[in-house]
Amino acid sequence: LAVAERAAADARSLDDLRAALAAFEGCELKKGARNLVFADGTAPAPVMIVGEAPGRDEDREGRPFVGQAGKLLDRMLAEIGLSRQENVYITNVLPWRPPQNRTPTREEIAMLLPFLRRHVELVAPEVIVAMGNTSIQALLGKTGITKLRGQWTEALGRPLLPMLHPAYLLRNPIAKRETWADLLSLWAHLHGA
Ligand code: URA
Repeated sequence: LAVAERAAADARSLDDLRAALAAFEGCELKKGARNLVFADGTAPAPVMIVGEAPGRDEDREGRPFVGQAGKLLDRMLAEIGLSRQENVYITNVLPWRPPQNRTPTREEIAMLLPFLRRHVELVAPEVIVAMGNTSIQALLGKTGITKLRGQWTEALGRPLLPMLHPAYLLRNPIAKRETWADLLSLWAHLHGA
C-alpha cells in the first residue's frame, strides 16, 4: 500500500499517473488483463465519472465504457449536453479487468485507491459522479447504491453524486426513471439551477 501511495503521489500529470499504474506490480488483476484501461474523455473536465472496472470490451480496447453499458452511458450524458469530446472525463476504480467480471474485492479497491485519489486531483473536476457500489465503496467508504443514489455528498473536497451503474440499468430498465432524475439533478448542479 505504501508503494501505491508513493507512486501515486509522485505523479505530476495524467501521463505520469498512467505510467505509474502500468509499472505497479502490487495487483494480481494485472496478470489476467490484456490492457491497462486508464481513462477516456477530456481533462480538465467539469464532470469526472468513476465506474467499477473494465469488462471484456474495455479490456480488449484499452478504453473505459466502450461496451453496451458505455453506449447507454453516452446516450444518458448526451441528454444533458455532456460528452467525452467536450466536458466529461471517465475512469474506473480498477484499471484492470477482474476475471469473469467478478465484483472487485475490498482489498483490490483499497490497493488501487491512492491512484484513484490522485487521478481525481489531476483531473480537478467540478463534480464527481460515482456509478455503482464499487465506486461509492472507493470514494465514500460505503455501499448501498440503491439508497444513496441521487443524494449529493462530498468526496476529496468535491461534490459527489452517486448514481446507479449503467450495467445495472441494462438489467433493470425500470430503474432508468431514477437515473433520469439524477441526470436532471446533475444538470441543475452544473448550471447553478
Ligand atoms: N463497467 C464499468 O464499470 N466500467 C467500464 O469501463 C465498463 C463497464
